[in-house]
Amino acid sequence: MFVEKEKILTAKDLSKTFSNSSVQQHVLKNLNLSIYKGDFTVIMGNSGSGKSTLLYALSGMDRPSMGTITYFTDDSHTEISTYNNDKLAMFRRDHVGFVFQQNYLNDSMSALDNVMICGLLKNTDRKALTKKAKDLLSSVEINENDYRKFPTQMSGGQQQRVAVVRGVINSPEVLFADEPTGALNSQNTENVLDILSNLNNEGQSIVMVTHTIKAAERGNRIIYLADGVISDEIDLGPYAGDYKDESNPNLEISKERHQKLKNFLQDMGW
Ligand SMILES: Nc1ncnc2c1ncn2[C@@H]1O[C@H](COP(=O)(O)OP(=O)(O)OP(=O)(O)O)[C@@H](O)[C@H]1O
Ligand SMILES: [Mg+2]
Repeated sequence: MFVEKEKILTAKDLSKTFSNSSVQQHVLKNLNLSIYKGDFTVIMGNSGSGKSTLLYALSGMDRPSMGTITYFTDDSHTEISTYNNDKLAMFRRDHVGFVFQQNYLNDSMSALDNVMICGLLKNTDRKALTKKAKDLLSSVEINENDYRKFPTQMSGGQQQRVAVVRGVINSPEVLFADEPTGALNSQNTENVLDILSNLNNEGQSIVMVTHTIKAAERGNRIIYLADGVISDEIDLGPYAGDYKDESNPNLEISKERHQKLKNFLQDMGW
């Protein structure tokens, strides 16, 4: 039986134009897109194609020049594209999480406090929040010894794991991630991708921008952006493990997914 996926948000006729001195640059051009609950959506495309701009618009980090972004939350419709800065900040606090390429942790606070400060914007029950923060940190293998540390005392991989926890501490409807492994070595990349996959398996909806096939394979829906418009997209089905790992019980599916993604990207001229 075909079950229609539940929409989290819809962007309609989205445009973003930057004006630099006398030149206008049309970065997003009448783009239409819906994001669905439970999906791990991946956005790919060449450098400068507008991926970050799209992510910032969808997440309410920035406003589009034209068009609408409607969230379907709390059984109601919320149109955020016209919100002022204060309303957008409140909306983000309540509904979205964000992970950047650079972790942007506050260096003057411990890892735990970095997570807590974000959680306290929304939650008043400090005790319950502390437990949730510690549980989440421990799920990404940041133990008590580590979460007392300041970001500068942690490895890049540990810092980014803390940043992911901060992104999900308020149980966002959707977690946005802009090249979250772009600054990590291969071991840490694998580690952070595993964390994102686990979160998605537990139901967390994710929208991630990436430049690598390795990261994109984690998604089930791959969207290709070219010059500010969506060229095409494919449905890959859920991540089935590493296609190179001979002990992977889903090896055949993984290999097929990998090939399908490669073919798609080749068609897109990637
Ligand atoms: N705040 C801004 N002011 C002016 N131009 C901008 C601004 N932000 C982005 N742009 C321009 O918009 C275009 C798209 O930028 P964007 O950052 O969305 O690309 P991207 O696809 O994320 O690229 P990359 O893969 O390199 O991160 C670029 O030409 C960029 O210079
Ligand atoms: Mg970018």
